[in-house]
Amino acid sequence: MKIAIIGTGYVGLTTAVVLSYLNHDVAAVDKDESKLTLLHEGKSPIHEPGIQNLLEGVWHTIRFTPNVAEVVPESELILIAVGTPPKKNGEADTQHVEQAAREVAQVCLPNRHYTLVVKSTVPIGTNQRVVEVVEDVFSERGIRGNISVASNPEFLQEGLALQGAFYPDRIVVGANSDEAVDTLRRLYQPILEQTFDPPSEFPRPSAYHLPPMMTTDPNSAEMIKYAANSFLALKISFINEIAGLCEEVDADVTEVARGIGLDARIGHQFLRAGLGWGGSCYPKDTAALLGVAAQSGYTMPITEAARTVNFRQRARIVEKLQGTLGTLKGKTIGILGLAFKPNTDDVREAPALDIIRELLAEGAIVRAHDPIAIANARRALGGNDETDNNRLLFTEDIYELSYDTDALVLVTEWEPYHKLELRRLAKQMKTPILIDGRNVYSPEEAGAAGFHYIGVGRT
Ligand code: UDX
Repeated sequence: MKIAIIGTGYVGLTTAVVLSYLNHDVAAVDKDESKLTLLHEGKSPIHEPGIQNLLEGVWHTIRFTPNVAEVVPESELILIAVGTPPKKNGEADTQHVEQAAREVAQVCLPNRHYTLVVKSTVPIGTNQRVVEVVEDVFSERGIRGNISVASNPEFLQEGLALQGAFYPDRIVVGANSDEAVDTLRRLYQPILEQTFDPPSEFPRPSAYHLPPMMTTDPNSAEMIKYAANSFLALKISFINEIAGLCEEVDADVTEVARGIGLDARIGHQFLRAGLGWGGSCYPKDTAALLGVAAQSGYTMPITEAARTVNFRQRARIVEKLQGTLGTLKGKTIGILGLAFKPNTDDVREAPALDIIRELLAEGAIVRAHDPIAIANARRALGGNDETDNNRLLFTEDIYELSYDTDALVLVTEWEPYHKLELRRLAKQMKTPILIDGRNVYSPEEAGAAGFHYIGVGRT
């Protein structure tokens, strides 16, 4: 199928590469020249495990261009995967989605049928708005165009994006036209029936079942995306709330999560207590959902509480440091992990950024490490490199970072942080305090290595 994808961010590029791997004829459009330069050289502008190899495999078949008019007229299906950044009041800004729809309607041919699919996460009612935008352009052009609009929300997780694209739990389609549903069914057929040869890096999981394609109306499809993210966000906040009480009553939240997760109605996933969620989805989508509700004069106290608990986790880590060190003024704190989660260089809404800002505000000296996200964190925080006489220093060597520090805070559960030489670290620190924001280590293991250990939800 001939496809145009507008936007080459996490969603757009992953979708482009995967659909191309599935032998669709893909063209990807982006206005960002720096991204296009990289893509024209066959380099992925995003860090995502496996994407570079897969991109190299399909690179000669995908076309990258800044120009909608070059690729849309000949396409059967157009996917909009542009950003919907938060406005000041938390609502999602859909101007790029509407602009993309406008540009598509301006160049599509009057005598052809197109399916225009909104993949971006958008407030409820946006697909309807896209239909209006398209119709407005058609009447300006004085033509009777033929575009079916459909919602097809994306559920990929950063760091697991390709795995999620090849082996999704479900595909959701919201459309008012059978034609659009049929086109999307043909698009996803290799995934729905798992007829493709898996790439070597992404073998088909043995327990994987064929995913259903759920069809519904566009508003419900848009709501499914927000409700899914809000539910997962609140599941994590729930266990974090329980974690805080575990600390008060001397219970162990990892044991509690194990015990409640065994109830099939609850399940084990997304019950890891820690520093909570960051990234581009949960913070933004919960805020956007509250924005949608506010427009109707409706309140959502559960979603609000999930946010309150989540951001409190960050403040609690600083309080734990103060609880052991007293004042933080002049103290040196080592931060392990800057990305909002492992396997990504994404620092959007990352807990580390808030913690570092707070530590600096308290007068501490901060040394920070991350396997790949230092450049992005430096941009976000405006810090300098190791040689500068600044209170925020970035370093690529964990053991250099820990030398003479007053405490270490493990913020992101990167794989290398699971295998730290704890004894060596404890020995070279001024005071061997480990605040384990992700419960990577057991209190016993860290204690045996000489650390004063403070986790989340266990004493
Ligand atoms: C999420 C959704 O999973 C995805 O379906 C949606 O399309 C986009 O938003 P993502 O933000 O990439 O994906 O990350 P996810 O793996 O869901 O984790 C989000 C955050 O929750 C991370 O900061 C992670 O550290 C945190 N988390 C996750 C926990 O604190 N505890 C857990 O048990 C699980």
